[in-house]
Amino acid sequence: MITGWGMCVPPSVLTNADLETLTDTSDEWIVTRTGIAERRISHVDTSELAAVAAAKALAAAGIEAGDVDLLLLATCTPDRLVPSTATTVQDRIGATRAAAMDLNAACSGFLYALAVADQMIEAGSVRRALVVGAEKLSYWLDFTDRSTSVLFGDGAGAVVVEATEEPGGLLAFELGSDGSAGDILCVRDSGTEGRPSAGRHPIISMEGPAVFRRAVDAMGEAAATVVERAGLALDEIDLLIPHQANIRIIDATAKRLGLDPSRVFVNIASYGNTSAATIPMALTEALAAGRVAPGGVLVFAAFGGGLTWAAAAYRWGARTEPIGVSAAELPEHGASALQILASNAALFGTGV
Ligand code: ACO
Repeated sequence: MITGWGMCVPPSVLTNADLETLTDTSDEWIVTRTGIAERRISHVDTSELAAVAAAKALAAAGIEAGDVDLLLLATCTPDRLVPSTATTVQDRIGATRAAAMDLNAACSGFLYALAVADQMIEAGSVRRALVVGAEKLSYWLDFTDRSTSVLFGDGAGAVVVEATEEPGGLLAFELGSDGSAGDILCVRDSGTEGRPSAGRHPIISMEGPAVFRRAVDAMGEAAATVVERAGLALDEIDLLIPHQANIRIIDATAKRLGLDPSRVFVNIASYGNTSAATIPMALTEALAAGRVAPGGVLVFAAFGGGLTWAAAAYRWGARTEPIGVSAAELPEHGASALQILASNAALFGTGV
C-alpha cells in the first residue's frame, strides 16, 4: 500500500516565451500541440531532486529513512552510471538498511519500479520500499532542437510502499516493451556504443509522430487491460493519472477508457514531460488537491523510450493526508533557467 508521497521540482522556470528565444518555435504551437506552458530546469543533479522528493515521501508516511528495506530509483538521467544514482540517494537520505538500485524503463520507469516493489512486498522479502522517479532531462537536450526541447523538464516524485493489512493497493498491472523500435526515441552514443569520434554531448533524438502513434495505442491498450484484469467497471474508476507526455496522448488514453476530463489528472502545463517523475509528481499534486478519495480507484498509464509501456489499477488506502511534513529543500541559487542552460551549453557544447 502507498503510505507516503512527495515531490521536488527545481525553482527555475523555463517558459514557452523563453524557448522562443532559443529555437524556431512559438507559445501557440507548443500549447496547442502539447499542452505545455512551462517546465523546470535543474541546477542540481538527479540524486538531489530524488533525495528531497524521498524525504517528503518518508515524512508523509511517518517513517524514518532507516526503516526502508528497498530503494528503487527509476531514471534515464542518472548522475553517473556507476555507482547507481539510487545508492547516492540512499546515502543522501541515510537509508542505511536499504538495498538500492536504478531502474531504466524511461518514462514507464516509475510504474515498472512500483510493480517490482509491490511484488517483493507480496513475496514477503521486503516490508518497506521507497520508489522514486527522478529526472534531469535538460542534460540530454539540445535547446536549439525544437522537436525535443519544448517537451521535457526536470523533477522528481517518490512514494513509500509498505506491507499493510489494509485491503487494496495494486489491483492489477501490465508491463510491456518493444526494443525493435528503440531507435525512434533514444540518446545515441550515451553508453558503450559511443564513439569518441562522435565528438559531441549526446542528446535525445525522437521521431515525434511515430512515438505519438505508438504511445496512444500502447498506453490506451495497457490501461484498458488493467481495468479489465482488476474486474473494474467504468464507473468504478475515480481518477486516471497518466504519464504527462502530451495532452493529446492523455486525451486519447482517457477516451479509450471512456473517461470524461473530470476523472483525469493533468499537470503537464506546469512541468512538461519529466519522464519517470511525471506519475509520482502528478499523484502528489492530486492528493494535495483533494482529488484522491479514501478507498478510491486510480488508474496509472505510461509510455516511453525502449519502447516501454506500463499501466496499473490501484485502490487507495484510508489515509489521504500526510502524517508528517519534511523541511527538506534543494540548495538555494539565483540563476534563471536561461542562465543555467547557457552555462550547461558552455560546458557541454549543446547548442544554446
Ligand atoms: N515549434 C514549432 N513548430 C514545430 C515544432 C515546434 N516545437 N516541432 C515541430 N514543428 C513543426 C514541424 O516541423 C512540422 O512542420 P511542417 O508541417 O512544416 O513539416 C509541424 O510542426 C508538425 O510536426 P509534427 O512533428 O508532425 O507534429 P506533431 O503534431 O506530431 O507534434 C510532438 C510533435 C509534440 C513531438 C508529438 O509528435 C509528440 O508528442 N510525440 C510524442 C512524444 C512523447 O510522447 N514522448 C514520450 C516518451 S519520452 C521518453 O520516454 C523519455
